[in-house]
Amino acid sequence: MARTVVFRELGGPEVLRLEDVEVRDPGPGEVRVRVEAIGLNRSEVLFRSGLYIEPVKRFPATLGTEAAGVVEAVGAGVTGLRPGQPVSTVQTFSMNDYGVYGESVVVPAAAVLRRPEGIGAVEGAAVWMSYVTAYGALMETGGVRPGDTVVLNAASSSVGLAAIHVADRLGATPIALTRTAAKKEALLKEGAAEVIVTGPEEGVSGEDVAERVLAATGGRGAGLVLDAVAGPGVRGLMRAVASGGMLLVYGALSGQPTPYPGIELGMPAVAMRTYTMLETTRRPERLRRAEAFVASGLRSGAFRAVVDRTFELDEIAAAHRHLESNAQIGKIVVTVP
Ligand SMILES: NC(=O)c1ccc[n+]([C@@H]2O[C@H](COP(=O)([O-])OP(=O)(O)OC[C@H]3O[C@@H](n4cnc5c(N)ncnc54)[C@H](OP(=O)(O)O)[C@@H]3O)[C@@H](O)[C@H]2O)c1
Repeated sequence: MARTVVFRELGGPEVLRLEDVEVRDPGPGEVRVRVEAIGLNRSEVLFRSGLYIEPVKRFPATLGTEAAGVVEAVGAGVTGLRPGQPVSTVQTFSMNDYGVYGESVVVPAAAVLRRPEGIGAVEGAAVWMSYVTAYGALMETGGVRPGDTVVLNAASSSVGLAAIHVADRLGATPIALTRTAAKKEALLKEGAAEVIVTGPEEGVSGEDVAERVLAATGGRGAGLVLDAVAGPGVRGLMRAVASGGMLLVYGALSGQPTPYPGIELGMPAVAMRTYTMLETTRRPERLRRAEAFVASGLRSGAFRAVVDRTFELDEIAAAHRHLESNAQIGKIVVTVP
């Protein structure tokens, strides 16, 4: 038996329950991991609320894709992993099929990465989702090159911070957007070349963002804009993209319908495209490149987990509440004793 987080109805953090659940042996191509830490992601809040891109198919449902721990057992046909090995998990699977919010969990072997030397459980649960998402968006899909400018919306999110570090490592110039003036200093410290605070506090509207980005790039605009917010704000963001550049939408935090503004903006030579990290994790060659890139950044110290706060497993509802408060800078991690 293992204490596992389950929910039997959609709703707020209060629907999450910690229950003793029988843990099965891993089947062919699967691995069982003793979990030491869990990295929380916005997608879990959305899944729990019924707002994720994929609906909950059955109850009781489980949650979570990103964890660090130690291999307990491997199923038939699994090579390169053995019991006792420190590992992390990344999202390659649906939360309808697997979840990592528990003391002992079964996941597909394809979702298991060996944890680099010197990376502890909390860091191992906090780095992969954000850096692999940022790597895939900037390098594989965005084609960012040294000297490019990239604009990062919701830059204080865990993915946003990783994208600042990745842009910096690639020799690109990251411009960070946040709604929260109090986060400005922290974003500059993380490596943002410039921070644009949107919203009433600084009087900068979504439309003004384009003016600020054009001013910062000598009128050219940014080669890539990475947007976790979507909704009507894409109008201003598309205006901030350079000719030949791309607006990459990878989240929908606004919860509002998203227009396609290309026609009303006079048909600029700008691509608007959605992206998920599954484009990277479900292609073994891309995942291998992402793993090598992130591990090299971790070894050099260029990449590191920005952990906002840790909670314990029996505080899972409080951890979700904290995530939904949007007060965090970086990752919320749940430790499993
Ligand atoms: N496509 C993928 O593969 C992929 C992978 C990982 C995450 N995501 C998506 O990326 C987004 C960020 O995820 P995360 O786990 O990194 O988030 P997070 O760490 O929870 O950070 C969220 C931050 O975004 C900002 N924000 C929240 N709601 C907003 C809104 N309505 N408008 C503007 N900004 C808002 C807030 O900062 P401020 O208030 O300071 O702006 C907040 O602190 C989510 O939409 C998530 O689903 C996508």
